[in-house]
Amino acid sequence: MNIAVFASGKGSNFQAILNAAKKGFIKAPVRVLVCDNPHAAVIRKAKRGKVAVFLIERKHFSSQKEFERRIIETLIQEKIGLIVLAGFMRILSPAFVARFKNRILNIHPSLLPSFKGTAGIKEAFEYGVKITGVTVHFVDEKLDHGPIILQSPISLAGNESLFSLERKIHILEHTLYPRAIKLFVEGKLRIKGRRVTVARR
Ligand code: GRF
Repeated sequence: MNIAVFASGKGSNFQAILNAAKKGFIKAPVRVLVCDNPHAAVIRKAKRGKVAVFLIERKHFSSQKEFERRIIETLIQEKIGLIVLAGFMRILSPAFVARFKNRILNIHPSLLPSFKGTAGIKEAFEYGVKITGVTVHFVDEKLDHGPIILQSPISLAGNESLFSLERKIHILEHTLYPRAIKLFVEGKLRIKGRRVTVARR
């Protein structure tokens, strides 16, 4: 099963996933990076890792539909079976999500359903939570909402800073995401309504 990672930024999760696939922990190749930002550092990481880069910028298309049509063409051409969102800063339309139903994963830097949106770490920190964490979930048509695959908590230290919390979250993401992708690739995830269970074999 070929994997496409969608990312718009730094790409530390992209790198962790690629490393896990190269080591054989994830038994599927990362075939494609889809990126919508020409300045994203993830592009360099993909090139260095010999992953095909498809830079597809929304501004070059007259509508979201046309933009997504171009992405879909790429996914079909590259025979992609799993889409992994890793800091992709665009919301995919319900039609796109429906087309790849239960084949799109996302990672979010909080314990969902708390602190949805792009500032999850900062908002949790400013709220004063004692525990936050990371969630990997299937993508549905609502933001940061689909069935949860894995979650892992982090306790905040007494002297925690936003910076140190961000670091802890990212370190956790880099192991949690590969674990969830591995389960998907091995066909071990069962979805029943909102509940995801892991088959033993
Ligand atoms: C991660 O914190 C992820 O949870 C969020 O976007 C960030 C991407 O970071 N969805 P990176 O580009 O993988 O370093």
